[in-house]
Amino acid sequence: MNKIGELREIIKQSNNIVFFGGAGVSTESNIPDFRSAKGLYNAKSEYGYSPEDMLSINFFLKHTAIFYDYYRKNILHTDAEPNDAHLALAKLERIGKLKAVITQNIDGLHQKAGSKEVLELHGTVSRHFCMNCKSSYSWMDVENAEGVPICNICSGTIRPDIVLYGEALDNDVIGKSVDYIEKADTLIIGGTSLVVYPAAGLITYFKGKNLILINREGTPYDGKANLVINESIGKVLKKALEEL
Ligand code: APR
Repeated sequence: MNKIGELREIIKQSNNIVFFGGAGVSTESNIPDFRSAKGLYNAKSEYGYSPEDMLSINFFLKHTAIFYDYYRKNILHTDAEPNDAHLALAKLERIGKLKAVITQNIDGLHQKAGSKEVLELHGTVSRHFCMNCKSSYSWMDVENAEGVPICNICSGTIRPDIVLYGEALDNDVIGKSVDYIEKADTLIIGGTSLVVYPAAGLITYFKGKNLILINREGTPYDGKANLVINESIGKVLKKALEEL
């Protein structure tokens, strides 16, 4: 049996699947990932700062205008549509097999595809808020503003509800993610290099039967998986779910 067939059989036998994903899930929606050859972190920077620096809280506070220029050009992809990976995971949830999507992505594409239980470890660009009075703003408010978006109630600075480098993840989101992973019988990990902590560390809570890795390139956890598929995750999940 080929690997897609193996994946299909595991999915058929599983009723408590959890998905853990990263930027590689959205590349088939034309959103670049970070660390692969064409990723954001390997792109030539026109700003004289590394992308990792520009996506840190210190940089945001010190160079807010440059942050927003980079953010609008490279992080806000409001026209992106869900791809076959997002749609397959939403279907798996609809037929009662998948309990949660845990994602490092901030693009909101899982929800756009119809997934209901989505835990966003690094927040989301669909929410922005005033750092002073906490008023909420949408990505459209930010996309349509010039330069640094300012709160129209108190003139405070508006920021995206994402976890920047140097900031902690939300404890409630971590707690829920660990709970789902601990209870899962199958953990499907996809489109992530598994090099950023604490996110990557959450998968060590998995105690179930099937650990599956779907990633174009190798990851530090390949040796722990019982099925590794080094292909595009949209294609793999679409094929695996064809008969379901
Ligand atoms: N199908 C399968 N794998 C893919 C695909 C695809 N279509 N496209 C890319 N990949 C793989 C790449 O080979 C790479 O190993 O997905 C992985 C993406 O890894 P990263 O770019 O490191 O992204 P991610 O793991 O999500 O990064 C984690 O780092 O910068 C921070 O906060 C940011 O959430 C991000 C975190």
